[in-house]
Amino acid sequence: MARAALPPHEVADLALAEAGEGRIEWALGQMPVLNRIRERFVAERPLEGIRIGACLHVTAETAGLLVTLGAGGATASLCSANPLSVQDEVAAALVGRHAVAVRAARGEDLDAYAAHVRATLGDGPQVTLDDGADLLITAHGLGGELLEGLIGGTEETTTGLVRLRRLEQEGKLQCPVLAVNEARTERALNDRHGTGQSALDGIIRASHVLLAGHTLVVIGYGWAGQGIAERARGAGAAVIVCEIDPLRALEARMAGYEVMPVLQAAERGDVFVTVTGSRRVLRREHFERMKDRAVLANAGHFDVELDLEELRSLATGGVTEVRPLVEEYRLQDGRRLNLLAHGRVVNLAAAEGHPAAVMDVSFALQALCVEELVRKGSQLGPGVWPVPETIDTEVGRLKLAALGVEIDAPTAEQERYRESWL
Ligand SMILES: NC(=O)c1ccc[n+]([C@@H]2O[C@H](COP(=O)([O-])OP(=O)(O)OC[C@H]3O[C@@H](n4cnc5c(N)ncnc54)[C@H](O)[C@@H]3O)[C@@H](O)[C@H]2O)c1
Repeated sequence: MARAALPPHEVADLALAEAGEGRIEWALGQMPVLNRIRERFVAERPLEGIRIGACLHVTAETAGLLVTLGAGGATASLCSANPLSVQDEVAAALVGRHAVAVRAARGEDLDAYAAHVRATLGDGPQVTLDDGADLLITAHGLGGELLEGLIGGTEETTTGLVRLRRLEQEGKLQCPVLAVNEARTERALNDRHGTGQSALDGIIRASHVLLAGHTLVVIGYGWAGQGIAERARGAGAAVIVCEIDPLRALEARMAGYEVMPVLQAAERGDVFVTVTGSRRVLRREHFERMKDRAVLANAGHFDVELDLEELRSLATGGVTEVRPLVEEYRLQDGRRLNLLAHGRVVNLAAAEGHPAAVMDVSFALQALCVEELVRKGSQLGPGVWPVPETIDTEVGRLKLAALGVEIDAPTAEQERYRESWL
């Protein structure tokens, strides 16, 4: 029998498929909620014939999501939300074993990245899945038939939602988008626990730094920053938080961290992590004050949080790759600043992103949101919408069950008491 033709693809090496399949199986072994949804999708086929376009980190967990959507009857095309986060073996397995059109290779340049986003849109997706909104924003730039065929999209990260809300405010957003990033289950697990553990994992894998006894500076105390601060403290680091929002700064202080402007923290830190979603939060004036051998990392979505041009211009002594993903910038006075993962999102570029058990929740939400869009997208209308509470609660309930945790339900008396309040 002839082998089924492969879907369109531009991946590093199809021969890596077997290794990729192993990674996917390992990830799925830690994704019980997604597995439950997949079993239901196999039986009900709620996505029959739907074309999905995804711009997500090309990891084993993402593969688990796409396999689940495929089980529901969808066909999928995938490009990467970040060239450094691509797991080439997973890309190969998705093409070779799961009929997903993948255009992504680790380390691809920005031109290739943009071409892959456009090619993914060329497959005519009806539902888009984004992590940073590149797919949907590009679709809006291209316009035409592509937008007419769109049922809707989902967005996985804070920065993507900022961009899409800007589009909405300008009256240009043409389809509904479900804000997966803001679901309660996502906030609780992904941003805090996922980023908290994996950002430190990336920093440690790349630099092999010991956190205990050292000072780690977290710039941005949002959901992700809180997780990083908490985990770093747990590992024995003294943690300094820098913020611009008074309430977030107050929260950090009440949680027991030192809080101060970045300029002061610059002199104290051994490890710096930016996670603000903003730009140039670490720049010349800060680099000039840092200690010899300070480690610099970014966990925010875009690589704009450190001003790399200014860092480069300060490095009159040269820039050397001293370990994989560690560049040493030698300043005029001999001090060395160590930049991790080229300033790109460190937990993905230097580690494997959020652990599968965390992505289980994110991608269970994604799968149920795709189903929701297919069922009810036309009723929603253009705009950024919250994930329906029923989906959020269902995912939380399934995750608790998978963890073997039981909880109480309110008694009838308690329900009546609550409802008696005006
Ligand atoms: N690496 C990951 O896996 C991961 C996970 C979640 C979010 N993110 C990304 O991390 C960034 C932050 O996400 P979040 O969900 O924590 O957002 P958030 O909006 O909850 O928090 C960002 C915080 O940064 C603060 N901030 C902004 N500019 C600042 C500045 N100049 N100096 C100090 N503080 C500043 C804000 O006041 C806010 O409290 C976004 O880019 C998001 O996309 C990455």
